[in-house]
Amino acid sequence: MSEGRGPAVGSAPGKLILAGEHAVVYGHDAVALAIDRRTTVRLQAGPPGPLQVESAIADARLRAALAVALPEGGLQVRIETELPVGRGLGSSGALAVALLRARAAWRGAPVGFAQLHAEGFAIERVFHGTPSGLDHAVSAAGGALRYRRSPGGAVELAPLPTPAWPIVVLDSGRAGDTGAMVAGVRARRPAIDGALDQIGALSATFIEALRRRAALAEVAPLLNENHRLLREIGVSDDNLDEIVAFALRHGAAGAKLAGAGGGGVVIALCAEPARLLAAAAAAGLPAWAAPIAAPADPLEGTSP
Ligand code: PMV
Repeated sequence: MSEGRGPAVGSAPGKLILAGEHAVVYGHDAVALAIDRRTTVRLQAGPPGPLQVESAIADARLRAALAVALPEGGLQVRIETELPVGRGLGSSGALAVALLRARAAWRGAPVGFAQLHAEGFAIERVFHGTPSGLDHAVSAAGGALRYRRSPGGAVELAPLPTPAWPIVVLDSGRAGDTGAMVAGVRARRPAIDGALDQIGALSATFIEALRRRAALAEVAPLLNENHRLLREIGVSDDNLDEIVAFALRHGAAGAKLAGAGGGGVVIALCAEPARLLAAAAAAGLPAWAAPIAAPADPLEGTSP
């Protein structure tokens, strides 16, 4: 590959799941939002042989994921990210999209949404086993996205109006393992299928509310109900439940864990985010107001 142009750079945003995590693995709707924290991948020519990797985490799984996109070697790969791993912020999906964009820039070939989504699956499978594809879809598209993947693999997706409600992210400081959490949910089926169906129905309601640009007060209870159902399917824990309760005590109208669970972040909708941010700072809980990443070249190359 060293005949390509270089150095080349690709970048992609992380994401938050507003509704539907886990249920989306079984064909239900989910809603995700790209956030303005990114992963950047830089490629340049390296000595012949295996990839040279410069990254805060350069473990075997990362090397295997990089090799999916860059099997030829002979390159130096530098990864910088604003997304902590395992927090439900889509770090691996952002890496997949940033890597494919960097590779496209290196080769001097354009890459659109359809290719990013199709090839991103192979990279995401290295990290998560059986991903729904939601994470790297929203990383590639930007903005807010409705996503559904049927058990047969057909994907339906559509951009949604970007919500105007303030969203606060509260970080548990613990990394969850998405692959293990998805496997745990799978092992608890079919006993929890009713709860997964309810999460899917709740996502559909959420989508309809977003399209109507519903007020925060109408949407916030859906987050509380979603969190209750996520606890029912076994992906929350005492610490995440406490962070949700903390957010509700300090002005949030609704809150839920976001992502696979077992750690990661809680998201909260609140009319006055400053109050919750101040309370979190006083309690030593890392928190920030989530800026939303604008749509990229949304859904270019797909037939939704
Ligand atoms: O990577 P996370 O923590 O945002 O979780 C991904 C969302 C899941 O629904 C749990 C898995 C998937 O592939 O959609």
